[in-house]
Amino acid sequence: MKAAYIEQTGPPETIRYGDLPVPEVHGTEVLVKVAAVSVNPVDTYIRGGAHYWKLPQPFVLGCDLAGVVEAVGPESQKYQPGDRVWCTNQGLVGRQGTFAEYAAVDECWLYPIPEGVEDETVAACSLVGVTAHLGLFGKAQIQAGDTIFVHGGTGGVGSMVIQMAKIAGARVITTGATAAKVARCKELGADVAINYKTEDVAAALADFAPDGVDIFWETLREPNFDQIVNCMAERGRIVLIAGRETRPEFPVRPFYVKALSMFGVVMFKVSSQEMRPCGEDINRWLAEKKLRANISKILPLSATATAHRLQEENTLGKAGTLAGKIVLRTSH
Ligand SMILES: NC(=O)c1ccc[n+]([C@@H]2O[C@H](COP(=O)([O-])OP(=O)(O)OC[C@H]3O[C@@H](n4cnc5c(N)ncnc54)[C@H](OP(=O)(O)O)[C@@H]3O)[C@@H](O)[C@H]2O)c1
Repeated sequence: MKAAYIEQTGPPETIRYGDLPVPEVHGTEVLVKVAAVSVNPVDTYIRGGAHYWKLPQPFVLGCDLAGVVEAVGPESQKYQPGDRVWCTNQGLVGRQGTFAEYAAVDECWLYPIPEGVEDETVAACSLVGVTAHLGLFGKAQIQAGDTIFVHGGTGGVGSMVIQMAKIAGARVITTGATAAKVARCKELGADVAINYKTEDVAAALADFAPDGVDIFWETLREPNFDQIVNCMAERGRIVLIAGRETRPEFPVRPFYVKALSMFGVVMFKVSSQEMRPCGEDINRWLAEKKLRANISKILPLSATATAHRLQEENTLGKAGTLAGKIVLRTSH
């Protein structure tokens, strides 16, 4: 089978697109014939040598997939050949990745793809959708009527946070770098979207929520806690998901005087049981057309190195040339 894999970590040029054996399925694993996958920033950190954990050799890149069950392991009970399935959280904490024509995935990570939902759509919503769900519902306990700010409404996570917050009945304010991105944020359901290059974000926030926002979802890798804490409502919740090397200043007094809380979310540490409510809600919302994918580019799997470069230029380099997810398709 064709796969996008690495034998050593390094720049995007380290990625090989070539033949690997189709994986064997054991126990409760399921062999999935992969149709579409999506690229996430974490894929580029791992490929670049972040050394979070020991990688399988060779290491197939990628966390997400959508496809069709080809075969099932001897102890697998949930799926039959021909079933359409999706998953995320592969290629992490020692598991093999998904960027291949076939992938062996334990059935505990798989979800059925709802009828009428395209492979590209579900692949683009998977890791980012689970992350948004864990933070909004598991940690920040979002309620109808809450106000929430998220940086980067057209980003992978930001686009999911907007839509899930609206599903929860919250009022959403977000940012985009261009007029087109601002318009896209509104299409995704944001009540207010600010062009942070040309407008005053703090003033727009004060106008939107004069008593402060209830939830601040930070997608940036360099959070500015003076700004964040200043724009929070009493008893507000801050969600952090990024900033590996960052050691920012922190305004302690207003944080505790406002009785704020702050949560760290990391999707790859959750178990398949903890993830299940996220996957089930995502499926229901996809079926009801309440949740939409925000896809910026669709490329063939053979272009994985190009896709990694593009993701890296945007997430790390802030190139601004992406407005959502990169989805890759196999030749199946
Ligand atoms: N902890 C976890 O479990 C978890 C899960 C997923 C992702 N993450 C991390 O979360 C971060 C975001 O992930 P992602 O997939 O959403 O990345 P992404 O698709 O690259 O989105 C990043 C967003 O940030 C925006 N942005 C960049 N600089 C900005 C600035 N100065 N002001 C306002 N917006 C700015 C960009 O919007 P514009 O183009 O409008 O500037 C873009 O929409 C990454 O660092 C990723 O590694 C963590």
